[in-house]
Amino acid sequence: HSTSFRASDLAVHLTHTPKTMPHLDQSLIFGKNTTDHLFWVDWDFEKGWHTPQIVPFQPLVLDPCSSCFHYGTECLEGLKAYKTATGKTLLFRPDLNIQRLRKSARALALPDFDGAELLQCIRKLVDVDKKWVPDKKGYSMYIRPTMIGTHQQLGVTKPGSAKLFVVSALVGPYFPTGFNPVNLYCDETRIRAWPGGVGDKKIGGNYGPGIAYTAEINKLGYQQLLWLVKGNVTEVGTMNFFMLWKNKEGETELITPPLDGTILEGVTRDSILELTREWNEFKVTERAFSIHELTQAAEEGRIIEAFGAGTACIVCPVQKIFFKGVDYEIPMKLGKSGLLTKRLLDHILSIQYGEIEHPWSYKV
Ligand code: COI
Repeated sequence: HSTSFRASDLAVHLTHTPKTMPHLDQSLIFGKNTTDHLFWVDWDFEKGWHTPQIVPFQPLVLDPCSSCFHYGTECLEGLKAYKTATGKTLLFRPDLNIQRLRKSARALALPDFDGAELLQCIRKLVDVDKKWVPDKKGYSMYIRPTMIGTHQQLGVTKPGSAKLFVVSALVGPYFPTGFNPVNLYCDETRIRAWPGGVGDKKIGGNYGPGIAYTAEINKLGYQQLLWLVKGNVTEVGTMNFFMLWKNKEGETELITPPLDGTILEGVTRDSILELTREWNEFKVTERAFSIHELTQAAEEGRIIEAFGAGTACIVCPVQKIFFKGVDYEIPMKLGKSGLLTKRLLDHILSIQYGEIEHPWSYKV
């Protein structure tokens, strides 16, 4: 019984029909342009992990009774690979994504594996598809590790078989509008996550239920939802939330909700906290704060800027927050973003593209 697959067992089958590369411009839709290969490995209860493989990109063949289709036994990750000016390929903090995938898998009773082995397999996959890592700033390869229950039985039980696969796509900016501000819609009657739930796990079940409502508020001119838990601000759309403000004590403070189990442990979130604490220019706080504290601060002109943070967009400026019939305007010193939002974007990009050497960069 194999408790982990091994990168040294990886079987590589290269494609004979490589795809044509897309143009690196505004027409690139996030996640549409998948690369030539994918990684996959099966697991079953009797044998444990099977032989890991890199194969030409292709559909999955699954039994329609697979538990992922019926009971949401599915978890995912998102990380990026970047090309440096000298042609090297770098991964940004992949260790954290792999750790989080294992945690999400555990929550769904999907099998565990050795994270270092998956990292080696991802390195190999990115290396095989290295021509898909674009050498243009603002563009990258988005890597999507995914794990699903493939158990062919309609009972709600612990998956007896599973598949771990990794697909990648050449991407540009997450939003078609590029690095531009978003308007947020906050409705306390809609809940993404709750205490004791799975809001801190990256599982499909946390994303699907937000799609229809997001489409509704899109029609009203808002791009993303601002999610609350018991009146406290938690996340924005699929991102963590940050606000730079003058707190009631008059201190300049960067504030973000704490990891209390309702919030995704964002890699970008963690990076922003570590960087700003290193800079030591203002107070950096992880604590619960309510929508009322936010709207009061907006009314008193104490908000300096606000932004969402996630792997896909890195940071995303917030322009306006709707709550109970009122639009609260959030200042943006630079017109399209605040000063800190832009500075964080530039700094994180410099690390990701290898302009600044940093232990967060992993060579492929
Ligand atoms: C993010 O990177 O912000 C995400 O949550 C990815 C999204 C496409 C699911």
